[in-house]
Amino acid sequence: MCGIVGYTGERGTVDVLLEGLSRLEYRGYDSAGVSVIDGDHIALRKKGGKLAVLRASLEDAPLPASATGIGHTRWATHGGPTDENAHPHVGDDGRLSLIHNGIIENFAELRAELEAAGETFASETDTEAAAKLLGRAYRETGDLTAAMRQVVGRLHGQFTLLAMHAEQPGVVVGASHNSPLLVGYGEGEHFLGSDVSAFVKFTPNAAALDNDQIVTITRDSASVTDFDGNAVEPKRFEVSWDASAAEKGGWNSFMAKEISEGPEAVENTMRGRLADSHVELDLGALDDEALRSIDRIVIVACGTANYSGLVGKYAIETWARVPVEVDLAHEFRYRDPVLDERTLVISISQSGETMDTKMAVQHAKAQGARTLSICNTQGATIPRESEAVLYTHAGPEVAVASTKAFLAQVIGQLLFGLHLARVRGTMADEAIAEVVAEMRELPAELRQVLAEQEAVHELAHWMADSRSVLFLGRHVGYPVALEGALKLKEISYIHAEGFAGGELKHGPIALIEPGQVVFVVVPSPRNEPLLHSKIVSNIQEIRARGARVIVVAEAGDAAVLPYADVVLRVPLTLPMLEPVLQVVPLHIFALELATAKGLDVDQPRNLAKSVTVE
Ligand code: F6R
Repeated sequence: MCGIVGYTGERGTVDVLLEGLSRLEYRGYDSAGVSVIDGDHIALRKKGGKLAVLRASLEDAPLPASATGIGHTRWATHGGPTDENAHPHVGDDGRLSLIHNGIIENFAELRAELEAAGETFASETDTEAAAKLLGRAYRETGDLTAAMRQVVGRLHGQFTLLAMHAEQPGVVVGASHNSPLLVGYGEGEHFLGSDVSAFVKFTPNAAALDNDQIVTITRDSASVTDFDGNAVEPKRFEVSWDASAAEKGGWNSFMAKEISEGPEAVENTMRGRLADSHVELDLGALDDEALRSIDRIVIVACGTANYSGLVGKYAIETWARVPVEVDLAHEFRYRDPVLDERTLVISISQSGETMDTKMAVQHAKAQGARTLSICNTQGATIPRESEAVLYTHAGPEVAVASTKAFLAQVIGQLLFGLHLARVRGTMADEAIAEVVAEMRELPAELRQVLAEQEAVHELAHWMADSRSVLFLGRHVGYPVALEGALKLKEISYIHAEGFAGGELKHGPIALIEPGQVVFVVVPSPRNEPLLHSKIVSNIQEIRARGARVIVVAEAGDAAVLPYADVVLRVPLTLPMLEPVLQVVPLHIFALELATAKGLDVDQPRNLAKSVTVE
């Protein structure tokens, strides 16, 4: 989950590295470090704490100018977030430095072996063993690329490594095994990064390394080989967004900015995919024949992406009449799921790098299942490992808490559901046309929701001292309740749980005591009269026990008024589309409440945006 950046060129290496790290900090933010080649040795600075601590130290005492450098932002796994444990780590008597993302599982054996051979260690990390090993391999081979090839064969686990050696100025070598690494191609300069945001400010031209590849960059070249040394030509692409999209641009937080970008995220996910009255998706290998042959879908994802999958299940089953299961990616591959070539496994991931989701996709492929990735990040690993991809094009999401990506993930699945329904002939053309027409209204409706959130602001300030908040929903409102609870606990550290309304009497109602705040996501009475009446009964049950009830309800729903302490209104849309609107007040509520508590909403404690370890 760490962020990695490497650079060779004439631009002011430390500035390039810090710029890259500032964009990668979402991946991990408990310590950071940079190193550059300075004559016959490595100059290095690393600090526990956020990037700002490192930045301040570099302002006080700058590193020398150099044409070669590497930088790292860490999410601690082995050893606490101290200066010593921060990367880079050094080898070959301080002439080599190395940074690492991932976990080296056999580090203890390696460390014991290296200590027996006379190496001394300054940190508790798994990474330092790789630095020492690489230093020794360099002494044997005299070439960093050859040394890297030797070392990767000794490491178990998953890793991206970047290294440089003072005897080879102008060279940075990277290796990737089950962990992302991208190359950025410039004029007289090259970049390496955990994702394109590390270098997009300088160049949009990128390529992603495949698994088990090594890259060597100099000012003028970037050469890639497999672990055996065979040359490979990585597939290049142009990043579709520019660096300003990943800047705060006047907002107090990335999360606030990204919530405000929901309408454009939805528009961009739909762009080019809505024909006059139906959906047209180009899913490559998953052509119409393949889609007609599947008899089951399993959606795999984690966290917020998983909740979006629960919405997708309702829509795809209703429209395309294919059974859909939704699994947590980390549970999926350990339960030996029944899969064959008639199963389509859809992975959903904003980052496209979540380790659990990636491993679930690999497991699905190994069992012969078909695979589709719904992903927001170009060139990420999960789409590259899948047969087909539906990019959501929501733009970069920097805040750790996912907001606009959730909207885009739901839209991606709605598009897929309508496409599948047309291909399989399970939905009348007029019914598809009706949904398409309503989907086109969503961006404007979202703008309206965003403009009318004064009540949420007040509520959040009033509730800043709450200790527990519950969320209830039914049908597609149930995943919205789960998402509302996750967002609140994640950034405001308040205990929050989401429940299906029908489940209340099976246990959770015992939690209700006078003053307990419960958010209730209410389906439209015009769309779902029966469900609506059921949830109104749920509201009455909790009110009778003293709960304070905040409802998220459709604009014309008067029936909830007598039972609600606060009503948050959203425009009327079709049932499957409701989550896209209903979730926004809950995202804003979490943001406002965490802000009222004075917390860092973009970088909540203990978390990282991209969970690239199991
Ligand atoms: C919650 C959140 C996480 C992610 C989850 C999956 O706000 O952001 O729950 O949704 O870690 O991440 P991706 O979508 O990158 O696979």
